[in-house]
Amino acid sequence: MTDLAGKHIVLGLTGGVACYKAAELCRGLLKAGATVQVVMTEAAEQFITPVTMQALSGRVVYGSQWDAREPNNMPHINLSREADAILIAPCSADFIARLAQGRADELLSLLCLARPTNAVPLLIAPAMNREMWAHPATQRNLAQVQLDGATVLGVGNGDQACGETGDGRMLEPNELLEDLIAFFQPKLLAGKTVVVSAGPTYEAIDPVRGITNLSSGKMGFAIARAAREAGALVTLVAGPVSLPTPRGVIRIDVKSAQNMLEACVKHAQTASIFIATAAVADWRPATAADQKIKKDGSGKTPKLSFVENPDILATLAQSPRGKKGLAGKAGGLFCVGFAAESHDLLANAQAKRLRKGVPMLVGNIGPATFGQDDNALLVLSEAGVQEFERAPKLKLARKLIATCAYAAGAKG
Ligand code: C5P
Repeated sequence: MTDLAGKHIVLGLTGGVACYKAAELCRGLLKAGATVQVVMTEAAEQFITPVTMQALSGRVVYGSQWDAREPNNMPHINLSREADAILIAPCSADFIARLAQGRADELLSLLCLARPTNAVPLLIAPAMNREMWAHPATQRNLAQVQLDGATVLGVGNGDQACGETGDGRMLEPNELLEDLIAFFQPKLLAGKTVVVSAGPTYEAIDPVRGITNLSSGKMGFAIARAAREAGALVTLVAGPVSLPTPRGVIRIDVKSAQNMLEACVKHAQTASIFIATAAVADWRPATAADQKIKKDGSGKTPKLSFVENPDILATLAQSPRGKKGLAGKAGGLFCVGFAAESHDLLANAQAKRLRKGVPMLVGNIGPATFGQDDNALLVLSEAGVQEFERAPKLKLARKLIATCAYAAGAKG
């Protein structure tokens, strides 16, 4: 993943035990393609050494506003002008107070104050004891730095170094990385609500057996992440998969097609886009036995009969709001379907788009996508056919979200 390729990040460390996580974060930023300039306060150096951060970032760490290495002796100007973003992780309660007051008596706060606010975003990852976090002074200072244009990345909840438990832990390095990557994505769906269905369904035969399929859910999870990155409020209705929930996405776990239908219908009521990536079982056993069906030694096999499952996509597409979405009317639900085919992708996908009554349908070759980290897509809409060549699913998801945002927006 090179999601941060070409980005130069000033990583600021302030005093806190969470400095140990900044080492991992620094590696993650580099792995994602960024270049990283570390700046540390004196207090941060009590927790982790500049040697470690230099070794990890591959650059000499800055710690003083009097650093004579800079020919003009202005590290606060030079470092802040080069950055695509300044990320303070960990950001202590004291440093938040300093930002709120616009103090500038040491390098890190000085360069935050000196940064061109319209060109160099400031993101902070607070880290502190739960009482310090809850204190009105901290909350007041946080509100002020947000008003002044900083982005607060939130805190985690759990065990703290002091032995207490609660809010105030710094987010984990992978969470911060995901948040920073999301920060740089264009906010094409700001203010929109999106529902995504993903994964397989599980249709019970008895309490211990059921029918499912090989869908991994990866494409749907990538789409939910991409929609969230684009600024949408996202609900992900997921069949049984063991994938981690994308940051900031509301996840509803379901099992059967019937459960998935209920959750999708409920959450789509307030949504403007529904993207159906789930591989929903077409049929379910007509009855699920209350008790495990046993072998009786006679060689007789149980007879299963099936009934058809509801079509979630068609149900929503044919609802009054779905029809409005198809017609491009304001207040409609823009429905996007997927078609996993084994052959004749274009013809099958075209027929499916019309049959389901959806404005957009995405075709892919089933056996070439199930469980894979990459995929190739064919996107069909009224506007024609677009081919998305083979790429990682997250990259395709971002492209699809952009196409969808444009089509849904263009339609009102
Ligand atoms: O009819 P088919 O299963 O090929 O259609 C695939 C599309 O319809 C996918 O978007 C899938 O999520 C959706 N679908 C659904 N409910 C079903 C069957 C399919 O939402 N019962």
